[in-house]
Formats: sequence, C-alpha cells, structure tokens
Amino acid sequence: MSNNPIRVAVTGAAGQIGYSLLFRIASGAMFGPNQPVILHLIEIPDEKAMSALQGVVMELDDCAFPLLKGTVATSSLDEGFKGVNWALLVGAVPRKQGMERKDLLGINGKIFTGQGQAIAKNGASDVRTLVVGNPCNTNSLIAANNARGLDKNRFFAMTMLDENRAKTQLARKAGVDVTAISNLAIWGNHSATMFPDYFNARIGTRPVPDVIGHREWLEKDFITTVQQRGAAIIKARGLSSAASAANAVVDTVRNLTTPTRTGDWFSVGVHSDGSYGIEKGLIFSYPIRSDGKNWEIVKDVPLNEFSRAKITATENELKEEKAMVADLLPK
Ligand code: NAD
Ligand code: LMR
Repeated sequence: MSNNPIRVAVTGAAGQIGYSLLFRIASGAMFGPNQPVILHLIEIPDEKAMSALQGVVMELDDCAFPLLKGTVATSSLDEGFKGVNWALLVGAVPRKQGMERKDLLGINGKIFTGQGQAIAKNGASDVRTLVVGNPCNTNSLIAANNARGLDKNRFFAMTMLDENRAKTQLARKAGVDVTAISNLAIWGNHSATMFPDYFNARIGTRPVPDVIGHREWLEKDFITTVQQRGAAIIKARGLSSAASAANAVVDTVRNLTTPTRTGDWFSVGVHSDGSYGIEKGLIFSYPIRSDGKNWEIVKDVPLNEFSRAKITATENELKEEKAMVADLLPK
C-alpha cells in the first residue's frame, strides 16, 4: 500500500450526491483497494449544512474504512482545497421539474469563480478538477478560466452518467449484457442537446446500427431518452439523480486515472483544442482515451452529416452559455 494518501475535495459534501459519493471513494472504488485517501468535505457556511456535514463525518468514522486516513470538514475554500489532488465540484443547486440545466447558470455560475481561484491557490501541483454541479460544462469553463496559472487541461465536466445511460438503453434494445457495449461517446453539452453517438458505438465487435436495425428507434427514441433521462428521474423521484451521478463520478475519475482498454474510449467534457472544428476553449465532451496519467481526444472518429448537425447544435448551445457568463470569465 502506498504511504501517500490521495487528497480528494468534494464540495456539496452534505448533499444528495455527496451522501453516495463519499462512501464509494472511502471504500476504494475510485482509486483502487490499495490507495489510501483523505477526504476534504466542503459545504456552505450555513448552520444546517454544517450540522448535516458533521453527521456525514460521523457516519464515515463509523464505517472504519481501512483506506480512509482522515477527513477535513470545512466551509473555508482555502482550507478545503489545501493540498488536494482532486477537486470534485458537486455543490450547486439542482434543477426542478420544468427547468433546463442552463436555467441554473444565474444561481450556480458564480460559485465556480471563487472555487477556481481557491483551487489554483491551494491545490497540489497535480490537482485535477471535475465539475458535476449543473450546468457542468459551463461551470467547468468558469472554474478553469478563474484558476489563474493552472493548465485548463486539468478541468473536466461530467458526461459519464449520460454514457452509462446510453449503454444501458442500447444493451436493453439489443438484448445483450451492458458490458458488450463499447466506444460510446457523448459529444458536447450535458444537456438536452448532447449527442450520444450510436454510429461509432459497438456491440461486441459490430457497429450498433448493424445490430439494432431499427433506425427510427436509434434516431429518435434512443437519443431523446438519453437526453431527457435526467428530467425523467426528477419527474419520478421529485429529486435529481444522485446515486447514479455519484457512480458516474467514480467511473470518470477511474477512467482518467487508469489506461483505457485498447481501441475503446470514454466520455468527459474537456477543454476543446479545436478538434473536430469545435470552438477552442469550450468545455466539450469528446471521445477520450487515457494512458493512466494523460488523456487525449480520440482523432479521426468518422462523423456523418446527421452526427455533424447534432454536434453543431450542442456546440452552439455551449457558445450561448459562454456568452451568458461572460462577466464571470476574466478578460
Ligand atoms: P443537493 O441539493 O442535494 O446538494 C447540494 C449540496 O451542495 C448542498 O448540501 C448545498 O449546501 C451544497 N452547496 C451549495 N452551494 C455550495 C457551495 N458554493 N459550496 C459548497 N457546497 C455548496 O444537490 P445534489 O443532488 O447533490 O446535486 C448537486 C449538483 O449536481 C446539482 O447542480 C445537480 O444538478 C448536479 N448533477 C449533475 C449531474 C451530472 O451528470 N453532471 C448529475 C446529477 C446531478
Ligand atoms: C442528471 O442528468 O441526472 C443531472 O444532470 C440532473 C438533472 O438536472 O438532470
């Protein structure tokens, strides 16, 4: 077992997602069974939130996790991000039924200016930041642009939940195990414009459209189900997804920190370098591969006219969101 614990900050640690996520990290699901961790739990300076956070700390203590070497519970961003290797920015207001995620920009966007600054000031030299709080692509853009001196390639936005949702829908339709689905990229924004690319996804070794011949289902039902799944959960539960979101955070960090299976890829929002003609600097979800340390955008994934149109629509939405938060992006 390595002696050096990984320090992981989680904002919104007393919230719904936090309540599922922290226990998964502390149990070893994120960094493996041999890697100790120290959790930095960050909440707002509000009596109720801090009291709830103390309760969460008590429960973490009561699990006697062998890998958990300490907890820091705080409402101070400086203390919370001190020396952290990962900053998981979950804390933000969730949408209610009838809202789009970008309707949250006015409330949530400003959270990510101070957090970006505090991560740059206090984080470890290898700090990486994954934004979950919605709208996560544009919130990640705000954090990255306010984190002066930090490489923007260290900022991510979560689209893994969409990838997992898409894989399950395809597996159900094809009557195969979910592990048979690979190369499923979510392109663009974690929003109703995201494009789950079934043309390049595979079932076993075969392209999805060769196995699922039902073209109309793929073009309409499949895409809409994935795009609208968050809203469907809010309608059914009265609350937004939490355990599945926490699971996707674990999957995202694992995917970024372990080598990607040969020939496969995964989805995460990254700083666009202009690949596939997308505006540089947007936080855009692409097919990504990792060697365990560094990631890269997979090149030369074939895109047909239909895919191109979908990708342009989601890019345009991200450009609009960027314009909406222009005052939060330092010149
Ligand atoms: P929640 O309301 O249960 O919990 C949010 C927590 O964040 C609360 O405890 C709140 O006190 C805290 N918080 C608010 N502002 C904060 C700040 N500035 N600093 C630290 N903590 C702060 O919400 P939830 O269900 O856990 O969802 C959190 C966010 O994640 C929402 O914005 C939701 O829409 C988003 N989300 C994203 C995805 C995704 O796939 N990207 C999936 C699910 C949920
Ligand atoms: C989700 O996809 O479940 C989350 O982004 C929550 C939401 O608002 O849909």
